Amino acid sequence: MEKLIAPSILAADFANLQRDIEMVNESDADWFHIDIMDGVFVPNISFGMPVLEAINRHAGKVIDVHLMIVDPDRYIKTFAELGADILTVHYEACTHLHRTLQAIKAEGMRAGVAINPHTNVALLEDVINDIDLVCIMSVNPGFGGQSFIENTYKKTRQLKEIILDNNAATQIEIDGGVTDKNAKQLVEAGADVLVAGSFVFKSATPKETVKELKEIANS
Ligand code: DX5
Ligand code: ZN
Repeated sequence: MEKLIAPSILAADFANLQRDIEMVNESDADWFHIDIMDGVFVPNISFGMPVLEAINRHAGKVIDVHLMIVDPDRYIKTFAELGADILTVHYEACTHLHRTLQAIKAEGMRAGVAINPHTNVALLEDVINDIDLVCIMSVNPGFGGQSFIENTYKKTRQLKEIILDNNAATQIEIDGGVTDKNAKQLVEAGADVLVAGSFVFKSATPKETVKELKEIANS
C-alpha cells in the first residue's frame, strides 16, 4: 500500500492561506491535516469552523481533521457539514469512544482516534475494528515544531501487531516532529500516513520537501 503524506496546515502562513493550500494541491501530498484546538484539552487555540470552511473551499484533497477538543460529540455533525472526510477524536477526551466512533461514521466520515504519548496502544484493542485511523501523537498535542518522541517507533510496532492480529483495516498515522530523518523508520514500524507541519511549511521549497518525504516513505 502506498504511504501517504498529510501536510499540517497549522504550520502554514495564515496570511497566505490560499497560496499554501494551492501548494498542497499541486504537490505530491495526499491529505490536508487540519488541527482544531480548544484551549481546554490542549493549552493552545488554533482556529475553528469559519477557517475550516474557507480551507475546504480551496482544498482539492482529502480533509483529515484532528480534533484536540473536549467533548467532541457536540460537533460531529458540524464537521461533516464543513467537509471533513476523516474526523479524529482523542481517546483521552471520549468517555464513550465506541459510541463516538459510530456517530462519526453515521455522518459519512471515516473515524479516527488520536492517542497522547502516554496512552498505551493496547487500550484500543477492543475497538480496533471500529477505527479507520489511529493517530499516534509523537509529540504532546497543542503545538507545531516540537521534537519527535522516540518511543513512537515502539508504539507503532505494537499497534501494527494489534491491527494484524484482529484482521483490522485500520491505518496508522504519525503526528508530530516528522522529518526526513524519521520517516523511513516510522514506515518500517508500520506507519501508513505521515503528518508533517514545520518540516514542510518552514522549508524554502515546500513542494519539493513533500516530494522528498513521499519518496522516502515509499522507498
Ligand atoms: C500538534 C498537531 C500536529 C502539528 C504537527 O498538536 O497535532 O498536527 O501541526 O506539526 P509538526 O510537524 O511541526 O510537529
Ligand atoms: Zn494533528
